[in-house]
Amino acid sequence: MDYQSFIDAQVKEIRATVGSGYAINALSGGVDSAVVTALAHKAIGKQLKTYFVDSALMREGEPQHVVKMFADLGIHVELVDARADFLNALKGLTDPEQKRAAITETFYKKIFVRLVRESGAKHLFHGTILTDIEETVAGIKRQHNILSQLGIDPEKEYGYQVVEPLKTLRKDGVRAVASLLGLPREISHRIPFPGPALATRIIGEVTEERLATVRAATAIVEEELSGLDAFQYLAVLFNDRATGIRDGKREFGQIIAIRCIDSHDGREATATCVPWPTLQRICQRITALPQVCRCLYDLTPKPPATVEYI
Ligand code: XMP
Repeated sequence: MDYQSFIDAQVKEIRATVGSGYAINALSGGVDSAVVTALAHKAIGKQLKTYFVDSALMREGEPQHVVKMFADLGIHVELVDARADFLNALKGLTDPEQKRAAITETFYKKIFVRLVRESGAKHLFHGTILTDIEETVAGIKRQHNILSQLGIDPEKEYGYQVVEPLKTLRKDGVRAVASLLGLPREISHRIPFPGPALATRIIGEVTEERLATVRAATAIVEEELSGLDAFQYLAVLFNDRATGIRDGKREFGQIIAIRCIDSHDGREATATCVPWPTLQRICQRITALPQVCRCLYDLTPKPPATVEYI
């Protein structure tokens, strides 16, 4: 694909769609929403209001990091504190698709509706990519940002139009567009991070305490694996417990799995051949977290596994 022509065509289309009005979008911390922000900002500048919704499900320091990264590019990002909304919506839920549905509903029915009303916007920009659409339509899992492909009319349902400039691209195309837009490598090479965020990495109920555990493990994994050039790496908290030993005593503790994958576009993936000493160091650091007594490395390719655990 000729990505420069893609950018030119999208800029034209975005301007025609938004006209003289306002549009909003939200950043998740992953590459797709970062690129959609830069593309739409190039097209309509200050007519775009960009938010970072702190859903309580974010990585350590992510809200501040993302705000700073875009401030350096001259793009203002407003922080929205929606932690209580998401934690309440997720309370008591253990089924993966129910958890995903609760997150989608909170974003679209509650948070975005409010932001649209306050900003006077008529359009919401999304970082949906082709792989998200295909996996949802195939019934593999409901990606949080898929609406019309599931028969949901956002205008009728929520009162705003959803625009998806990246919906014909896969992850490699998104990165190519990022580079052509002149975005720094830190953005063009950000690892994928899903909209439902750390909730996709907690099996069972999402609570503040469980989020704190998976957040701390994620920070360790990202620090240790960022130099490997892998497609994505993450930590997952299991719902089961296992017997371990801490300070000479029995501990029925938590289990964390590490996933690190090589992939072209996220549709298929294989486990990265991570050097053994790196795995040992990660294991040591993760089992030093409170109540975590086991750390596993997931070797499963996609398929049969998906990348995330819910
Ligand atoms: P799966 O788990 O479906 O993940 O094999 C494939 C890629 O998509 C990301 N992913 C999501 N991204 N919303 C997103 O924006 C979602 O609901 C979602 N679920 C998974 C995942 O991180 C991986 O890169």
